[in-house]
Amino acid sequence: MKIGVLDSGFGGLSVLKTAVEMIPNEDFVYFADTKNAPYGRKTRKEVRALVLKSVEFLTLHDVKGIVVACNTGTSVAVKQLRKIYDIPIIGMEPAIKPALQINEQKKVLLFATKLTLKEKKLHKLIHKLEAEERIDMIALQELVRYAEDFDFSEKTIVPYLMKKLRKVSWKKYSSVVLGCTHFLFFKKYFEKMLPEHIQIVDGNEGTVRHLINNIELSKSKKKGKIEYFNSGKKIKQKVFKKYMKLLK
Ligand code: DGL
Repeated sequence: MKIGVLDSGFGGLSVLKTAVEMIPNEDFVYFADTKNAPYGRKTRKEVRALVLKSVEFLTLHDVKGIVVACNTGTSVAVKQLRKIYDIPIIGMEPAIKPALQINEQKKVLLFATKLTLKEKKLHKLIHKLEAEERIDMIALQELVRYAEDFDFSEKTIVPYLMKKLRKVSWKKYSSVVLGCTHFLFFKKYFEKMLPEHIQIVDGNEGTVRHLINNIELSKSKKKGKIEYFNSGKKIKQKVFKKYMKLLK
């Protein structure tokens, strides 16, 4: 059986990439809801309906577990999905917990989509961690669009990030959290632009570890296969592979 992975678009490929590295003998089926990306600008009701539809699609493909490789989708739909399906549904949430532990005297800056930052799920998590005073947030919503358009050019990304981050006084922070799976495509820009003492944290590895603990792994010794699907205009398999290569 396969593992289903979904996102609003190409961002979830960053999770798929980590999964393929950690469990290479598994077969995967990836669904990108490209017709409806970005989710981060939609309402919670709209995103929830779209995630339910994407998961329904994946369940027709002989899956033993599903990864909602989208922080935005997880925050609005994971509870309901777990009620509907009896296979493991693995969600994603911004990795603020490990980030807070890096330096207890410093704050954490969370980057995510507009909807993730608004949602109750995140605020509950921050409350549970008693971290209200230690987390600041910035929505970097446009990065989702740039990634969907395969625009990773310096002349687009650097001015955008400079504008969004110009007021940040970095001395206060120990780390930034990439709380949207699309943001992983821009890691090299964050590494270049942020001061050296800032650690960049994401939840991809933790999510895959969680997946491994919740499914029965394949006994195959062969390298697994990946199938790609999407909801918009037909996208060739090689386009998905081009995105995957970028994450190396
Ligand atoms: N990649 C998604 C996330 O992790 C959603 C981005 C979007 O569609 O706005 O939040």
